[in-house]
Amino acid sequence: MAKLWGGRFTKGTDKAVEDFTSSIAFDQRMYAEDIAGSKAHAKMLAKQGIISQADCDAIVEGLTAIREQIESGSFDFSVALEDIHMNIEKRLTDAIGEAGGRLHTGRSRNDQCAVDLHMLVRKEVVHMATLLVDMQKAILEVASKYEDVIMPGYTHLQRAQPVLFSHHMMAYFSMMQRDFERLPLVFTHADSMPLGAGALAGSTYGIDQSYTQQLLGFSSIYENSMDAVSDRDYVVEFLSFASLCMMHLSRLSEELILWSTTEFGFIELDDAHCTGSSIMPQKKNPDVCELVRGKTGRIYGHLLGLLTTLKGLPLTYNKDMQEDKEGIFDAIDTVHFGLSINAAMLRGMKVNGKRMHDVLADDFSNATDMADYLAKKGVPFREAHEIVGAAVQHCIQNHCVLLDLTVEDFKAISPHFEADILDAITIESCVKGRNNYSGTAPECVARQRQVGQVVIHREEAQIQEWLRIIQQVEP
Ligand code: ARG
Repeated sequence: MAKLWGGRFTKGTDKAVEDFTSSIAFDQRMYAEDIAGSKAHAKMLAKQGIISQADCDAIVEGLTAIREQIESGSFDFSVALEDIHMNIEKRLTDAIGEAGGRLHTGRSRNDQCAVDLHMLVRKEVVHMATLLVDMQKAILEVASKYEDVIMPGYTHLQRAQPVLFSHHMMAYFSMMQRDFERLPLVFTHADSMPLGAGALAGSTYGIDQSYTQQLLGFSSIYENSMDAVSDRDYVVEFLSFASLCMMHLSRLSEELILWSTTEFGFIELDDAHCTGSSIMPQKKNPDVCELVRGKTGRIYGHLLGLLTTLKGLPLTYNKDMQEDKEGIFDAIDTVHFGLSINAAMLRGMKVNGKRMHDVLADDFSNATDMADYLAKKGVPFREAHEIVGAAVQHCIQNHCVLLDLTVEDFKAISPHFEADILDAITIESCVKGRNNYSGTAPECVARQRQVGQVVIHREEAQIQEWLRIIQQVEP
């Protein structure tokens, strides 16, 4: 097939080269952005008297028809035409003739791939933000549904101190909040328009970048055309967001996997979110959690891959930059999946509060509280720690726990113990007592949940503001 750039060449492209250099298999995902960018460019060219209004109308109409063909599945993408930009331009010219050949006046493909990806990332930031908010809502729902449930809290994966299950869940709310807070910077950087950079140095035609900016709803224009076509920082920033978000989802997945084992028995995932074994009839496997955990590595890979691609590149565009797309597209799809399926899993899971309580009744998670009791009676904390350590050792040898001891036993351990010790170290007291600002006491977790509602309102307002910006783009 004749190339749009074929004039200077004396023979056709090697088929293997075509296959190797083509990006149409993945960049067709940017068709809507490419068409919007081309329409805006054509309208600007007409407004500036660079092409006629009749040509502009033919281009806009032709592009609308192409969009319909792509969306109805009748557009035949060609590898020989390399990428989405040339596939669309060639089809347009085939359909409308000379006017199509005028579309590329005063712009380059470097312009196109940059502006298309900016628009796509900007849109995906908003979609991602929406999914994050829903995930946070799911966390709040679970935290309030099981607000009274007490579970063992862990360090080193050893039982440490009792915590409210809702406290544990709200830790993930905070992580998701930080994930959300990373998005405004990604949006701002994606929301700057590169179009008008030309190949790298600008344009000789008297183009009006403010006009294309207005048509495409960008909040700013790149100051420097060379930066405009070489910048992929916003893609790196998105991948960095995606990596952290997946890491959080992966940690949650790991906990859901552990908690749903027979050994823990803390939760049961909904049947709809698990799979079975081809050989062992009893199995119910948390495959989704495992896959979220498993896919996290490849998102880190995309981040490091792109950073590595960019590190040695001279200004301005180099074909290496075509490698920016597959990673971010995969990251978008994977994080979308991770967020939406995790929200559904949280909403669908059953929490076994009794099992968590039984586990706590049979262990030493209240040992710190016993030491705290002594310290509050004036015993230096180090000494109290020592005393309780010996009491724990005594219980282990006698196959009992601290709450099995009598007041007399306690008094024998230390004269500072009084009758109220038994109430001071119940599982409920351990939780209630930690009533500092960020602690696990019920009123503190209730406050966290209230703050969470405020955070969600703020995030939703931010999403509305972003939607106002991106909805300015003409279809
Ligand atoms: N498919 C290319 C990419 O994704 C488009 C830009 C091509 N520009 C060029 N000068 N060859 O990066």
